[in-house]
Amino acid sequence: MINKIEKIRQNIAEFRPKTQADIEEFRVRILGRKGELTELFEEFKTVAPEMKRELGKKMNELKNFAQDTINQLKTDFESQEIECERTDMTRPASADGIGSRHPISLVKNEIFDIFKRIGFTLTDGPEIEDDFHVFSALNFPPEHPARDMQDTFFIEKNPDILLRTHTSSLEVRTMERQKPPIRVICPGRVFRNEAISYRAHCIFHQVEGLYIDENVSFADLKQAILYFAKEMFGEQTQIRLRPSYFPFTEPSAEVDVSCNLCGGKGCPVCKQTGWLEIMGAGMTDPNVLEACGIDSKKYTGFAFGMGVERIAMLKYGVKDLRLYFENDLRFLEQFEAAL
Ligand code: DAH
Repeated sequence: MINKIEKIRQNIAEFRPKTQADIEEFRVRILGRKGELTELFEEFKTVAPEMKRELGKKMNELKNFAQDTINQLKTDFESQEIECERTDMTRPASADGIGSRHPISLVKNEIFDIFKRIGFTLTDGPEIEDDFHVFSALNFPPEHPARDMQDTFFIEKNPDILLRTHTSSLEVRTMERQKPPIRVICPGRVFRNEAISYRAHCIFHQVEGLYIDENVSFADLKQAILYFAKEMFGEQTQIRLRPSYFPFTEPSAEVDVSCNLCGGKGCPVCKQTGWLEIMGAGMTDPNVLEACGIDSKKYTGFAFGMGVERIAMLKYGVKDLRLYFENDLRFLEQFEAAL
């Protein structure tokens, strides 16, 4: 009898129905009035009393196993059928989401496209830099506050190895590599030890521009930036240059564009001034040219640097800088159309 019990148990375990009718048929075969288990219970009556206890236990277990298995198979089949009814197999497949570019990439690409049209090429360089490329070669005096631990992330307390604080380091790397004429656009991530808020972040993006050749003048700088501003913000855009100071340019300027939201009349975004600051710029300081091995008697040039988040903010009206870093799909999906 033990053998019979084992055999039936095995049959149940291996049973694989194809339809719901198969399950019913199987149930009748095992548990029906003339089923295998019922017959076994008949046979049980003839078993010697001392065996009854052990065998009875095994038979009850088998009966429970049969019932549980059959019930489980039934529910599995039912839920599958409901699933089939819900799925309309004739419906066209739903389109895959194609994703969208990040607004920072969109703006970075657009900046490059604009300068490409006037002969600039793209270049790149390391995010982990040394003091020479970020500060010394750019005419920063040794005691300049930008070198301070407050602003610069140093790597393992070594004051010579640091995360670049601006993309101007790429000017140095380009001039070391290339002889004039040089016309490059250098986008990249930069790092500063700043508290994160809606208007500041410790990681952001800049685009640097550099033009070195014979007879490059401040007028060339002004015209290049005016061209950029009109392409980026619209034909009606005006620019304004305010005198400023950077160690690596002389003379230096802060560049403003007319506010494209109020058309220059004054609004909360431009703080009623009608102008928005977009970049720093200037004529490359002769000390910088010399530090990079370029003859400052023969060549002059201009450079400019802008924050990509800032341009994106003005272009798309994004008021909180942190949105660029949070990867919230509700924000990112708004740029789908801007591919
Ligand atoms: N490197 C400057 C900054 O991070 C921006 C800048 C100013 C770049 C003037 C330039 C420049 O090339 O000429 O604030």
